[in-house]
Amino acid sequence: NSMLSWQRTAFHFQPEKNWMNDPNGPLFYKGWYHLFYQYNPNAAVWGHIVWGHAVSKDLIHWLHLPLAMAADQWYDKNGVWTGSATILHDGKIVMLYTGSTTEGVQVQNLAYPADQYDPLLVHWVKYPRNPVLVPPPGIGPNDFRDPTTAWLTSEGKWRITIGSKINKTGIALVYDTKDFINYEMLDGLLHAVPGTGMWECVDFFPVSETENNGLETSINGPGVKHVVKASLDDDRHDYYAIGTYNDRNGTWIPDRPNIDVGIGLRYDYGIYYAAKTFYDQNKKRRVLWGWIGESDSEAADVKKGWASVQSIPRMILFDKKTGTHLLQWPVEEIDSLRLKGKEFNQVRIQAGSVVPLDIDSATQLDIIAEFKIDSDALEKATGSSDASFDCATSGGAAERGALGPFGLLVLADERLREQTPVYFYMTKGSNGNLKTFFCNDQSRSSKASDVDKHIYGSLVPVLRGENLSIRILVDHSIIESFGQGGRTVITSRVYPTKAIYGAAKVFLFNNATELNVTASLKIWQMNSAFIQPYPNL
Ligand code: FRU
Repeated sequence: NSMLSWQRTAFHFQPEKNWMNDPNGPLFYKGWYHLFYQYNPNAAVWGHIVWGHAVSKDLIHWLHLPLAMAADQWYDKNGVWTGSATILHDGKIVMLYTGSTTEGVQVQNLAYPADQYDPLLVHWVKYPRNPVLVPPPGIGPNDFRDPTTAWLTSEGKWRITIGSKINKTGIALVYDTKDFINYEMLDGLLHAVPGTGMWECVDFFPVSETENNGLETSINGPGVKHVVKASLDDDRHDYYAIGTYNDRNGTWIPDRPNIDVGIGLRYDYGIYYAAKTFYDQNKKRRVLWGWIGESDSEAADVKKGWASVQSIPRMILFDKKTGTHLLQWPVEEIDSLRLKGKEFNQVRIQAGSVVPLDIDSATQLDIIAEFKIDSDALEKATGSSDASFDCATSGGAAERGALGPFGLLVLADERLREQTPVYFYMTKGSNGNLKTFFCNDQSRSSKASDVDKHIYGSLVPVLRGENLSIRILVDHSIIESFGQGGRTVITSRVYPTKAIYGAAKVFLFNNATELNVTASLKIWQMNSAFIQPYPNL
C-alpha cells in the first residue's frame, strides 16, 4: 500500500516485513556487530516468535541473515524468546534464551554458534539437553524469563540474573554457573521492588564514575557503579537505577531508594521497551538497544505489513555532573549519514511566536539545538504553584506558561494542522526554585484518529550555567529526542497525513508569556541506511 509507505523508516533497523519486538543477544564478533531480535516471520502482529538475525560493520547499515533459531524443540516450541550473549575467556560465544515450552512453561536454554570461525555466526546449535533452568519452587511457570549476559564473580564463576515476580513484587533471581549447563541459585535476590509487577528483560551492568568509556560487563571495583534495569510488563516502560553491587552475595542496592527500579528514572519517556546493553569491545563503549513499537492500530500494522523498529543504538554513560542520571547518546556512527547541513545562528524567538526554518526536506533529519534564555526574565518571573507540572497531564505545547513551552515543531505541515512539538517547559516554585521539563506533544501529530496522541515527558536536570539543549533524530514516523545531552530521552511514533514528503517542515516556537528565547541550530538532512538481505547466502 503506497499510501502508507512514507511511514517506513529510512535509517532505523527493521526487518523487511512482519513483526519484531525485543533486541536479543547483541554483540561484536570478528569485525561484525550482530543483532538478533524477536521476530514473527508470518504476520505483522506478535505471535509465533523466532530469532531474526542481522549483521553490521557500523551499527547503521545492516545485512539481514537467515533466522538464527526456529521454534523447533519441545522446550521452545511455543516461542524462542528473549536472551543474551556472553563472550567466554577463549572468545567463544554462549547464548542463553528463554523458551516457552509446548506446555507454555518458561525455561532457560543454551545455544552456541555451530562454527566459531564463521564471523557471520549464521548457524546456531541448541544444547541437546536443554532446558538448563526451569522455574524454581515458588516462581510461576509464566514468570521466569529473559536471562542476562553473564558476568564473572570474584571467585571466577559466571553469574546471571533472570526477571520474575512474587505476587506484585518485581524481582531479579541470581544464578552462578561454571559451564552454563549446571546452575546454583543464590539464596538472595539481586533486587526486589514491591508493587512493580513482573520484571521483563532485566539488564545489569557496570558504569564508570571517572572514565568516559564503557565498562566490560564483569568489571567491578573502586569508581564503578552498577545499573539495574527492568522492563515493567504492567506499564510497558524501561526503568533503571544506579547503585552498589555486592559480589559476595549477589545483591545490589540503589543509591537513592526513592528513585529505585520501577519507581524512578526511565531510559525513555516515550515508546521504548525491552532494551538491552552490550559491551562493545571494538570501541570500548556500552551500547543500548531498545524496541520501538508502533502507536497506530493493529489493523494499520497488518495493512502496512510491518510493525516495530529498533532505536538508533545509544552509547550509555554515567552522568558525572548530576550523579543521578545516565546519559544516552546516539552512537557516533550515525553522523556518517549526515548530508547537507544548515546552520541557524542566534534566532530570536519572541514570546508567543513561531519561526519557520528554511530547510529543503524534513522527513530525515538530525537536529542539534541550543536555547539561551534571558536570565533577567527568569529572575523576574513570579514563583507559582506550577510545581506540580507534569508533561502528560498538562495542556501540551498549546498551554502557555510564564516560562514555557518553547522548542521545535517537527513533522509539521505549512499551516501547522499537523505538528509534533519537542520542547522545554520551566516552572518556578513559590520557593523560587526552577524546574525544567522536557516534553513531546503528540496531540496534534496526525489528523488520523487511530493513533496515540499522548503527551510524553519528564523532568530534566539542568545545572547552573548550562544552556538548554536538544538533539532530535527525525525518521519519517519516528522522533527520538535527547534533552540536556541525553539525561532525559523521549521517543515518539507519529503518523502524520499532511506533514509528509516535501510537505514536512520544521519550526521554532515559543509559547511562553514572559520569556524571550534565542536558539542556535544545526540541521542535517540524513541519508538512508542500507538495510538489505545479505547477498548470495
Ligand atoms: C518483552 C517480552 C519478553 C519475552 C519476549 C517474548 O517484550 O515479553 O519478556 O521474552 O518479549 O517475545
